[in-house]
Amino acid sequence: MKVIVVKDYQEGARKAADIIEKIVREKPDCTLGLATGSSPVGMYRELARRCSEEGLDFSKVHSVNLDEYAGLEGTHEQSYRYFMNDNLFDHINIDKANTYVAKGTGDLKKNLKEFNDILNKTDIDIQVLGVGPDGHLGFNEPGETLYDGAHEETLDESTIEANKRFFASKEEVPTHALTMGMGNIMRARRLLMIISGNKQEAATKLLIEDRIDPKCPCTFMRLHREAYIIIEQKLADEIGYKG
Ligand code: GLP
Repeated sequence: MKVIVVKDYQEGARKAADIIEKIVREKPDCTLGLATGSSPVGMYRELARRCSEEGLDFSKVHSVNLDEYAGLEGTHEQSYRYFMNDNLFDHINIDKANTYVAKGTGDLKKNLKEFNDILNKTDIDIQVLGVGPDGHLGFNEPGETLYDGAHEETLDESTIEANKRFFASKEEVPTHALTMGMGNIMRARRLLMIISGNKQEAATKLLIEDRIDPKCPCTFMRLHREAYIIIEQKLADEIGYKG
């Protein structure tokens, strides 16, 4: 696990974009595992800039997203499909038919089967991750045990609390979500976590300690052979990370 300490959000966005750019240039038909949240937005903006100004080519790239809220149509402004179109896909030359975000409405069992089928036949070259305040990855909430494959999760109170900033009220935050399982995430060739500091101090502190704990799912990143974690200097200072 390689921890990259950056001076601020912008530098983190550039460093993360460098990692993605290298993969896209070396393997133009790569598959990117993508994530939502405020942490990767700067990286998406930087990738869009490199696409329009520097010819970074996404025309053959495929993508699959980590998760989606249950109950929100892809046209809902807070759905993760909408987020991805709005923050990345509408600004790069990717073929949207090659992008996959699980469907959060209709027959969820069927949607999960489709999600698992896609994951089972896809080699994800790099999976982008954020971390929830409770240490969740995607929407894999802390527990005694964790799931291997894509499944439905009931969101923890702390997750609903953290994500209410995106909705008009807490009552509007969905209580359930579809998410890749921990196995799907761990099978990606590389992991790239960006933490920009939305109450993730406790989870990040556990992540850099020498323990794996299902009650803090992000700690499983320690088991991965090629995992990058980008944190800002301020957060590194707060949690006493010395490198
Ligand atoms: C949501 C997503 C997670 C993401 C987290 C962190 O809960 N389901 O995948 O990691 O938000 O968001 P932020 O980057 O805004 O802190």
